[in-house]
Amino acid sequence: MESVTSTSAPPPVPYIADPYPALARIRANGPVSILHSDEGIPMWVIARYRNVRAALADPRFGQDARRAQTLADNRVAGVTLGGDVIHMLNSDPPDHTRLRHLVQGAFTARRVAAMRPLVERITTSLLDGVGGRQTVDLVQDFAFPLPMLVICELLGFPAEERDAYRSWSTAILTHNDDPAAFATALRDMTDYIEVQLRHRRARPGEDLLTELLAARDAGQLTDDEIVGMVFLLLIGGHETTVNLLGTATLALVRNPDQHRWLLANPHALSEAIDEFLRYESPVAMATLRFTTAPVTVDDVVIPAGELVLVSLGGANRDPDRFPDADRLILDRRDTGHLAFGHGLHRCLGAFLGKLEGEVALGALLGRYPGLTLAAEVRQLRWRDTIMLRGLESLPVSLHG
Ligand code: HEM
Repeated sequence: MESVTSTSAPPPVPYIADPYPALARIRANGPVSILHSDEGIPMWVIARYRNVRAALADPRFGQDARRAQTLADNRVAGVTLGGDVIHMLNSDPPDHTRLRHLVQGAFTARRVAAMRPLVERITTSLLDGVGGRQTVDLVQDFAFPLPMLVICELLGFPAEERDAYRSWSTAILTHNDDPAAFATALRDMTDYIEVQLRHRRARPGEDLLTELLAARDAGQLTDDEIVGMVFLLLIGGHETTVNLLGTATLALVRNPDQHRWLLANPHALSEAIDEFLRYESPVAMATLRFTTAPVTVDDVVIPAGELVLVSLGGANRDPDRFPDADRLILDRRDTGHLAFGHGLHRCLGAFLGKLEGEVALGALLGRYPGLTLAAEVRQLRWRDTIMLRGLESLPVSLHG
């Protein structure tokens, strides 16, 4: 708590802890703003809902990681954008179309609905594991292992090494902070994936890894692409849901009226998940885009060859689209948020992410309806990247 006798203004809250005031300023500044990365690369930022949605659906915004890297190199030598492993999310058509097509069958509404018992089993066993304790770290003990165990099961990947995946993933996502750690993590992770692929080749199973190996044998993807696919699914499959579970729980304990409302209306959980996703979008910034041709955003022209950041978190808090946008309103009943992106690269795992959110939060609240925060909000640590919005840890008292 701030001291009531203090006369000086409190220190400003850093962007990572609360990005929304800065995003509101960017929206107010105009349809597009120019910011500079720490390395001095100019980036155009789009943060108004209408413009974000249009940009995500506009083929003139490319995503090919190699072309983006060349554009960055032309401005500041020696900067890495972190797109060293090629996968569908940093590819443009036709490669994107081919790669997505290979795995999309595993993520349809029907296939995901069939995974509910698996997600429930994993959820129950994680909650059983923390059962006897008064205080737990909801992120480390629940929100992180849950989606990680699910994606490992789906891929046919050993889950025991999950802490290693998490630390590789962190080093890869925060590549600007420590390029050496990034390079090591990237090498270790891709080497590890290759070893797993060799194991699976020797002993095929009924999993995605086996299907991908068959597709490679049929000439539908290259050796590098299969590694990239597993890399993307492992990172995309957990870095997102873990954030949803952590921030949704935090939002509930900080909004007791909404917490009570959800306990009284458990059938509304699915719509509530959409509001949690809007309120704290786990992927705060879409992956880096660049203009392949001049693009006019309202009255501003972004020339060809510019790097562009598209703020999903900014769009989802735009008051021109969502009345009272900074308030959590669980019965808002508006599924128009952009937390899963939009257009060609819209999240492949959206059904799975939502299912995990529903099962996990439903079970957590069912068992521990009186759960409370066991730390001061301002002491909470957030993931140190502008791309994701998630907590490092979230201490909670299960029994209040
Ligand atoms: C709540 C959970 C999730 C959220 C909020 C989320 C969000 C997103 C967003 C915003 C994008 C598009 C990024 C962009 O356009 O730059 C995306 C793409 C993607 N997501 Fe998710 N995601 C979630 C869960 C998952 C899960 C569980 C998987 C499973 C493996 C997954 C796999 C993917 C893949 C493969 C793509 C790339 C699609 C493409 O390039 O066509 N996501 N996700």
